[in-house]
Amino acid sequence: MNASSDQSARLSLVQRPRRNRKSDWARRLVRETRLDVADLIWPVFLIEGSGRRDAVASMPGVFRYSVDVAVEEIARAAELGIPAVALFPNTDPARRDEHASEAVNGDNLVCRACRAIRAGGADIGVVTDVALDPYTSHGHDGLLDGDEIVNDATVAVLARQAVTQARAGADIIAPSDMMDGRIGAIRAALDAEGFESVQIMSYAAKYASAFYGPFRDAIGTSKTLRGDKRSYQMDPANGDEALREVALDLEQGADMVMIKPGMPYLDIVRRVADAFGAPTFAYQVSGEYAMLAAAAANGWLDGEAAMMESLLAFKRAGAAGVLTYFAPRAAARLRAG
Ligand code: PBG
Repeated sequence: MNASSDQSARLSLVQRPRRNRKSDWARRLVRETRLDVADLIWPVFLIEGSGRRDAVASMPGVFRYSVDVAVEEIARAAELGIPAVALFPNTDPARRDEHASEAVNGDNLVCRACRAIRAGGADIGVVTDVALDPYTSHGHDGLLDGDEIVNDATVAVLARQAVTQARAGADIIAPSDMMDGRIGAIRAALDAEGFESVQIMSYAAKYASAFYGPFRDAIGTSKTLRGDKRSYQMDPANGDEALREVALDLEQGADMVMIKPGMPYLDIVRRVADAFGAPTFAYQVSGEYAMLAAAAANGWLDGEAAMMESLLAFKRAGAAGVLTYFAPRAAARLRAG
C-alpha cells in the first residue's frame, strides 16, 4: 500500500482548523456573522392603477405593484419582521418632463404610497429615493443644460423633493442622485420644515455601474436614458474616492451611508465600515438579483443557498444591512430557521 492511500496515516498537528467545523453545533458555536431579518430593506417598485402586479421581465420574481397591492405586500413584509421598505416609482411617461416637475408633486405615486402605507398601519420604516430619474423625460438623475447635468439647480429641486416626501410620511430620505452638496441642502430643507427627525440614508458611494440595467427596465428609463451617468456616479476603478464621498456626506448630516452596487464592491463596504464606524448599508442591485435569479432558473445554481450566501457576505464585509429584492424570500427563510 502506498502512503497516499494509507487510511491510518497520522500527522502530528497542533492546529487542526477542521475541529471547529466537525458538526453543525460546532460550526454554530464559532460562527462570526449572522444574517437577521432586521438586516433587510426591501426595494419595492410602484405603478399607477389598482390591483396591479406587473412582472419585471429582467427580474424574475419581482413585480411593480399598484399602491393598493403594495400596501398589502408591505404589510406582509412587516409581519415577517422586515424593518424598512424603499419605494421606487414607475412614473406615467406623460408625467415626465425636462424639469422633473412630478418629483415635487405632493400627489405623485411615491407620496400616495407613503400615505397609504401609513394609513394601513404597518409597523415598518418607509425609505424614499431622492433623485430625478423617474421624473425626467431624459432619464437622468439631474437637470440638463444641453448635455450637461447642472449640479446646483438640481440640488434645489432635490431638497424640495425630499420635503415633499417627508410631508407624505417618509421616514428615511435616501438621495441616490450623486450631486455635490445635496446632503447638506436636504438636511437644511427638512429641518426648516420641522422634519428634524426624518433620517437621511445617503447613497454616498454610488458607482456608474452596468448592474443597474434591470432597475431601469422596472422604472421605465432604460429606453429613454440619453447617454450615461458617468459625470455624476463614481468611476468603478476608484476606492479612495469612496472614502472622500462618505466623509462629505457624514459631515453634511447623513445618518447612514450606502455603497452601491453591492457584491462587486464589498471591498468598499469593508473600508467604509472600518474607516467611519457609521451605519453602512449595501445595495444588492437589480443586476445582481437578475444574475442569481437567472442562474437559479436554469438550474445552474441552488438559488436559495446562493441567495443566503450572498446576503451573509454583506454582513461579513461589515454592512449594517442590505437593500435586496430578495428581502421577503430571505426573511421567510430566516423565520423558518
Ligand atoms: C437612480 C437609481 C438607480 C438605482 C436606484 N436608484 C439606477 C440608476 O442610477 O440608474 C438602481 C437600483 C438597482 O439597480 O437595483 N436614482
